[in-house]
Order: sequence, then C-alpha cells, then structure tokens
Amino acid sequence: MRLGVQAASQPGAQDASAGTPPAVAPSAASAQRSVRSEPLICARGLVKRFGSIVAVDGIDFDIYLGESFGFLGPNGAGKTSTMRMIACMSPVSEGTLRVLGMDPAVDGAKIRARIGLVPQEDSLDLELTVLDNLIIYGRYFDIPRRVIRERAKRLLDFAELTDRAHSKVDPLSGGMKRRLTIARALVSEPDLLILDEPTTGLDPQARHLLWDRLYRLKAQGVTLVITTHYMDEAEQLCDRLVVMNDGRIAAEGTPHSLIERYSTKEVLELRKPLGMTGVAERLAGIADRVEELADRVLLYTDDGDAALEAVRLREFPYEHALVRRSTLEDVFLRLTGRSLID
Ligand SMILES: Nc1ncnc2c1ncn2[C@@H]1O[C@H](COP(=O)(O)OP(=O)(O)OP(=O)(O)O)[C@@H](O)[C@H]1O
Ligand SMILES: [Mg+2]
Repeated sequence: MRLGVQAASQPGAQDASAGTPPAVAPSAASAQRSVRSEPLICARGLVKRFGSIVAVDGIDFDIYLGESFGFLGPNGAGKTSTMRMIACMSPVSEGTLRVLGMDPAVDGAKIRARIGLVPQEDSLDLELTVLDNLIIYGRYFDIPRRVIRERAKRLLDFAELTDRAHSKVDPLSGGMKRRLTIARALVSEPDLLILDEPTTGLDPQARHLLWDRLYRLKAQGVTLVITTHYMDEAEQLCDRLVVMNDGRIAAEGTPHSLIERYSTKEVLELRKPLGMTGVAERLAGIADRVEELADRVLLYTDDGDAALEAVRLREFPYEHALVRRSTLEDVFLRLTGRSLID
C-alpha cells in the first residue's frame, strides 16, 4: 500500500529492477496496462504434501498484476497450504511456483520483503500495544524507525484504530485484531497482499469496513490474493477465482462466468417440512436440477416463478419459498456437492 512513500524505498525494490520481472507498478493505471503481460504468481503442477496427506494436488494458476484473485473451497481444500507456499512460509513439495518472477526456494527472503501476509489465525503480539505491533514488525524489514512511525500513523487511521494506538492488543475485539493484522501486513508497503480468510468471524459491519479497505488497496495497484468461505465476499472482491476441492482446482473464472457456466439464471429455494423425504422424486421435472439439503430444496431453473407455480400445482407442502438469482454458492454446491460453510 502506498501511503505516500515511494515504491523505490520498499525492501526488495532494488532486487526487482535487476533482471526480475516487470516489477510492480506504483499506480492503478499502470497496473491496468501491465495486466496480462506476465503473471505475478505462476504455479504449474504445484503440490504440497504433509507425510502421506496430499494437501495440494498438482494445481496450475496464474495471478496477474493489479488483480484480485480468490481461492474458494471448503475446509481442508488446500487453500491455506497454497497461500503459505506463495508467501514462502512453507516449501513446495513438487511442481513449479514463481512469485514476483522469483523462485520461493531460492529467493524466499526477497519475496517475503515484497508481500504482505494476513494469516488465517492472527499472530499479533498480545502483550504489546497496537502501535508497537506495527513498529516491531516494520523493524523486521529494516525500515527506519522514523519511516515506520509515519506509516504506522497512516495505517492506524486506515484501520480505524488510531484511538487504540496505545492500548494492548489482547483486549481488542476480533474485528479490531483482524484490521490490525491487515495494517501490520501493509507496513512494508507490499506489492502483493495475501489474505487467508480475512473476514471470518467478523460481524457484517466489520466485514464491510474491511472490504472497503481492500477496494482502496486494489485501487492503489496492490494485487490481492484472498481465500474465503463467503461467496458474497468472493463476488464482491474477486476479479477471478478458483474453486478448490480436495487439493485440486475444480473450476476457474470470473464470478459471473462461473455462475453462467455452472448454474442456472434463477434458483427456487423451498424450506421443506422437518423430516420430509423423497422430495426430489416429488419435484422431478420441474427444474433443470434439484438439490436436496438438510432443511431446504434448491430447484435450478431459468424461471423461478414458473417453477414455484408448478410446485404449487403438485401441492408440495413447503414452509417458505424464495426465488433468487444464482450465486457462487450454487456453483460451489454443483462442483463439490458441499455447502461453502460446513
Ligand atoms: N502442518 C500440517 N501438517 C499436516 N497436515 C496439514 C498441515 N497443514 C495442513 N494440513 C492438511 O492439509 C489439508 C489441507 O489443509 P489446508 O489448511 O490447506 O486447508 P484449507 O482449505 O485452508 O481449509 P480451511 O478452510 O479449513 O482453512 C488438510 O487435510 C489438513 O489437515
Ligand atoms: Mg485455511
């Protein structure tokens, strides 16, 4: 994030000009121009194993400068394992991975200096104050104390934590801690921000505040890589995304194209009476596809109102009916057979 400090002062910026990739442009406009030139992150046949567990099972993806790229998937899909390899926190087991044009196995330190990581679990120092968490983190990057103080001031403002600057971290709310973790990841003014479930556990207001902050970063040209379980978040924030399942990529595209490819225009949701069985048979032929969940039945069709009329004609005893447009959750259900949130 460019809080008024020149890109050239970033750690690693020097390395980038010497033979490494079209490095990072300092503005959204130049980011736009560079999109699709050379990927900022490129994975081919990427594998992560933990003993006999294959967490990431040979995935390919390209993430371009200035875009916001999402990894969606249920628990255990391999999202965090992928994020940690990109962030050079965990070695690649097999395949190739290039981050900012460099190899994490060779240039881990240089890559780490240019990325910000928001891990799935906050790893703040609870005993320190909010401000000191930022200052001490900045010192890891050898940023002069005066520069860190200047950035910290703006970052606290950005994270709406200025009035808590001198409070200990421990008593902060979950949302405040999450915002501080994001502020901390920005101390080094990274070109690439990796956010592993940035809004899990936050209330709607805190989520919207975070989304707003992420939009602003993107507008400043920062490339965002985000994992999430929330389809509304993915639809809001991601230019492109992949759906991961069991360590593999099940589908890739823009939110819109995925919905178009894997779902119907509309969905009729019926809340079914408790304990009712044989629903799919009773509703057969009404929609292109019928999904029966524990409490609901989903009828996939391009005309939800017509489907509802047909359901009524069959005297199906639903408790509540809703016609809505398809979302990424429907795509997810189709591709994985599972709901996004287990
Ligand atoms: N350090 C580790 N040691 C052993 N197994 C691991 C380790 N980290 C992850 N795994 C395993 O790798 C698989 C993928 O886990 P990962 O954390 O990448 O999933 P995820 O998609 O981030 O899930 P969640 O949505 O729950 O965060 C799981 O089976 C998990 O148990
Ligand atoms: Mg995870």
